[in-house]
Amino acid sequence: MPFKFIHITDTHLAGPGLKLYGLDPRTRLDAAIADINTHQSDAAFAVVTGDLTHWGEPASYANFAEAMAGLKIPYIAMVGNHDRRVACLDGLKAAPRDPNGFVQGTRTTEHGLFVFLDTLDEMCAKRLGWLASTLAAAPTDTPLVVFMHHPPFPVGVYAMDEIALKQSAEFAEVIAPYRSRIRHLFFGHVHRPIFGSYGKIPFSTLRGTNHQVWFELDPAATDHLASHEPPAYGVVLIDQENLVVHSHDFLDTSLRFPFAAPAGMDDRDYALNFPAR
Ligand SMILES: [Fe+2]
Repeated sequence: MPFKFIHITDTHLAGPGLKLYGLDPRTRLDAAIADINTHQSDAAFAVVTGDLTHWGEPASYANFAEAMAGLKIPYIAMVGNHDRRVACLDGLKAAPRDPNGFVQGTRTTEHGLFVFLDTLDEMCAKRLGWLASTLAAAPTDTPLVVFMHHPPFPVGVYAMDEIALKQSAEFAEVIAPYRSRIRHLFFGHVHRPIFGSYGKIPFSTLRGTNHQVWFELDPAATDHLASHEPPAYGVVLIDQENLVVHSHDFLDTSLRFPFAAPAGMDDRDYALNFPAR
């Protein structure tokens, strides 16, 4: 069995009972958690790649913590541009903390060292220094998996590229000696399913659990950039050879049906005259 973990991002919780852009972020996070508990409880842990809350208020972190307490597997909480570091660290035991007080940390797994970065506001020299020393301290045969809120490169969705990681060059310089060992880069922030490679490092990101960002590559488009496209969480399967990322639309209620025709019916007739009577 491959090693499994869950990727959740951009939960954007506000206070209990509050809706955000017409959607209830707590109800949606609860639905994601219920789905994970039912179908993915064999996952080792979940990683939430930032924008845990929408305004960084203590009550929002309490709301987030209360929801996540229902998750049957452990989780790691990271910060995004909507978060507030102190409130996050005060409110969440699941937020890692580096010696400088940033929300950074690592987790050793059977598939290498997972590294969680704090990109809130900017990736300052202290945070980059922690990353450099963390990577340098890892045994040279250890694979690495990196998690951050902001993508360190433009994804082509102009509105999000405008608010991407400002220290992309500095980040690239720090990871340069380790690129061949980084199996995957996971990030959030863009509220869209996007995957590809950053140099030769495979990457993926996915929809948030509340609102989304519409697919818009035109820099001139400035209106109606947010959307109610369906929310998702990611399921990641890793073995020695491969790392596979699934994006699951956990609220989807569209029809599910068997490929095979009912007994006594031809498969072709079933497909062409669906649904079978
Ligand atoms: Fe977000």
